[in-house]
Amino acid sequence: MPISAEKIVANGYSIFHGSNAWSALSMFIERASNTYSSINILLDENTEKQCLPALYDNAPSLVNAALVRIPSGEANKNVGTLAEIWEALQSNGSTRRSLLINLGGGLISDIGGFAASTFKRGIDFINIPTTLLGQADASIGGKTGIDLLAVKNQVGLIVNPVAVFVIPDFLRTLNHQQLKSGYAEILKYGLISDRELWKSAKDNASLLTEYSESNWTDIIEKALVIKNTIVVEDPKEQGIRKVLNFGHTIGHALEAFSLQNDSNPITHGEAVAIGMICEAYISTVVLGLDLEELNQISSVILSIFEKYDLSKPNDSMLIELMRHDKKNTSSNINFTLLNSIGSAVIDQYTETKIISEALNFYRDL
Ligand SMILES: NC(=O)c1ccc[n+]([C@@H]2O[C@H](COP(=O)([O-])OP(=O)(O)OC[C@H]3O[C@@H](n4cnc5c(N)ncnc54)[C@H](O)[C@@H]3O)[C@@H](O)[C@H]2O)c1
Ligand SMILES: [Zn+2]
Repeated sequence: MPISAEKIVANGYSIFHGSNAWSALSMFIERASNTYSSINILLDENTEKQCLPALYDNAPSLVNAALVRIPSGEANKNVGTLAEIWEALQSNGSTRRSLLINLGGGLISDIGGFAASTFKRGIDFINIPTTLLGQADASIGGKTGIDLLAVKNQVGLIVNPVAVFVIPDFLRTLNHQQLKSGYAEILKYGLISDRELWKSAKDNASLLTEYSESNWTDIIEKALVIKNTIVVEDPKEQGIRKVLNFGHTIGHALEAFSLQNDSNPITHGEAVAIGMICEAYISTVVLGLDLEELNQISSVILSIFEKYDLSKPNDSMLIELMRHDKKNTSSNINFTLLNSIGSAVIDQYTETKIISEALNFYRDL
């Protein structure tokens, strides 16, 4: 029986979303029980508690699947946890014909996708994203990997899942901080490519406090379509895909700094939100982004995200972290910048003096 649900066609796989995503998933699992030699579910303690029961309800045969548990938190997105996943798969008798189900946020799909793609030279995996960030961004596009020596995403592969099932129902149990983290990426999609999405995302930030499945379904679908269109055009990030990195050159450096230095580190999205303000500042210098637009971006982001104390990291420390960014092909730090809201330009460079000015712009807000 064909799987019928709203779906977006990606590079060789489908992203099922909308009201029928549960039934598409149930059908997939029914079929998978016969075609795979075994099924594993990768999860952390939160997704085991909050998401696994609903998965069992909708796909009862999964009670026979092996659970591969890892601890939550970005600090665990490392080679040690990766090895634990490989070892669990080997110990439970997984074969080249086993399936891995990644049930969780971006951490689970990043490390799970990488573990699956390397175990026995590659087994199939599917993503069931359970965070807003996972649903709107991390679960699609094929980027998988881990952090190394506190630098983000240094080792990994671009490998696509067999399918992705986006079910906003999972967001009911997500806390406000994690919802905001995903919202940062939605604001980013608006800033880089869709002025209307930026307008509606900035005017509807109240979504973050009032869960409404239909609202989320709509906004997640918009985000998925934008990301998928870009990724299908440039799967290996040789050109246009770099637009998705707006806010991430400075954002990743801040995320890595916070992970190493804060007892309660900022989330990926919080770091990207700060990165977007700083990189919008750099955009005014390098590309002439209108000052009114810079002020609009800063005030919208600051109305959603608490200000982070940037007095702790010194600029040279952050700039050193930026030098490790994967977009760099030389010692120059590569940015994606905006020439206006809704329009981004890749492969932009600036002096370190301007990067410091941008960090100070944020500090002074
Ligand atoms: N591959 C990509 O294209 C891509 C894109 C963006 C971000 N990322 C990566 O994604 C990661 C961040 O993703 P994330 O924010 O989803 O983080 P995450 O997976 O760490 O999840 C955040 C927290 O929410 C909990 N959680 C997950 N689902 C829940 C639910 N339904 N209810 C309650 N709690 C739940 C998790 O246990 C965790 O504590 C980073 O490592 C980032 O680098 C990857
Ligand atoms: Zn991101």
